[in-house]
Amino acid sequence: MAETQDAWVVTGPTSGYGRATALELARHGTVVLVGRSPQKLAAVRSEIQAAGGEAVAVVADFSDVVSVRRAAKEVVALDLPIRGVLNNAGIQTADTTPTAQGWDPSFATNHLGPLAFTESLFPALADGTNVVFIASAVEDPERKPAVRVGFRGGRYLSAEAAARGEYTPGGSTRPGFDAYATSKQGSLAAVFNLARQHPRLRFRAIEPGVNPGSNLGDLPAAARAIARVLTPVLTVIPHVTTSKRAAKVITRIVTDPSGATGIYYDENGAPLQASKQVSDPAFSDRYIAESRALLATVPD
Ligand SMILES: NC(=O)c1ccc[n+]([C@@H]2O[C@H](COP(=O)([O-])OP(=O)(O)OC[C@H]3O[C@@H](n4cnc5c(N)ncnc54)[C@H](OP(=O)(O)O)[C@@H]3O)[C@@H](O)[C@H]2O)c1
Repeated sequence: MAETQDAWVVTGPTSGYGRATALELARHGTVVLVGRSPQKLAAVRSEIQAAGGEAVAVVADFSDVVSVRRAAKEVVALDLPIRGVLNNAGIQTADTTPTAQGWDPSFATNHLGPLAFTESLFPALADGTNVVFIASAVEDPERKPAVRVGFRGGRYLSAEAAARGEYTPGGSTRPGFDAYATSKQGSLAAVFNLARQHPRLRFRAIEPGVNPGSNLGDLPAAARAIARVLTPVLTVIPHVTTSKRAAKVITRIVTDPSGATGIYYDENGAPLQASKQVSDPAFSDRYIAESRALLATVPD
């Protein structure tokens, strides 16, 4: 029987992994759907309700820290017994149009927004709550499949530099790749840093696998449609997955009552080694301290 008293917060629940996981988590209680499009949120909410589940929608643009903080307050005001938070919303793009705060959109949406959202929720999270970030193995410069497609790992100089779209030299020649890899390294830095700083909560990261059929990236619509049809067949390739398959693994990690914290999982739910750089506590602490300092420059 569903534990309807529990609540699960999912960001970016309107597409890809987030949508599939929201549908899956609805079997475990009320899902708090946090996304930028009221129409798309309403559609996912209706789908969950039609299947007999419970969901509420909260609007947030993760590229805008003011919007994110307001949304976190709305989530807290719902006064639901939150058992898990899934930071899934993300983009991979060559677009560098500055955000509301004048920051690089990838760094803001994938790292600064989720960090601000998560930390704003802390006072409302009971001991033992699971907080999960969707990371990406492209942060590791030694991850061969990622290097083959042009990634050169996370290229963090400082939070201020990343917010300006500046990275360590020798990066990728593909537009947006350094921004994406560096911002997703921030998800891991957050998990490792927060696990040390907040032992009463459980922080986990997952590399969900490669899903060519999601809306991630700047693919033209026709290529996207083809990728969507081909994805189930492409799962014979190592690390390729579907939203549905990944959602089962992500749901297991979000609902896992084991108390495990500071752990990074692969697409099958097995422990995964992060890059040498982000595995160094001094580096992840610096990454998060600088991110917090940058966030603190933005008034509510
Ligand atoms: N697909 C992969 O191969 C892969 C691999 C490793 C990691 N990941 C990570 O997995 C996560 C989900 O990706 P996906 O492949 O499922 O992509 P997706 O289909 O594009 O879904 C992304 C979700 O994030 C939301 N989102 C994007 N920008 C937002 C913003 N500014 N504010 C609020 N919500 C926003 C989207 O909302 P809209 O529906 O409104 O656009 C959507 O719900 C991301 O963090 C991504 O980095 C993906």
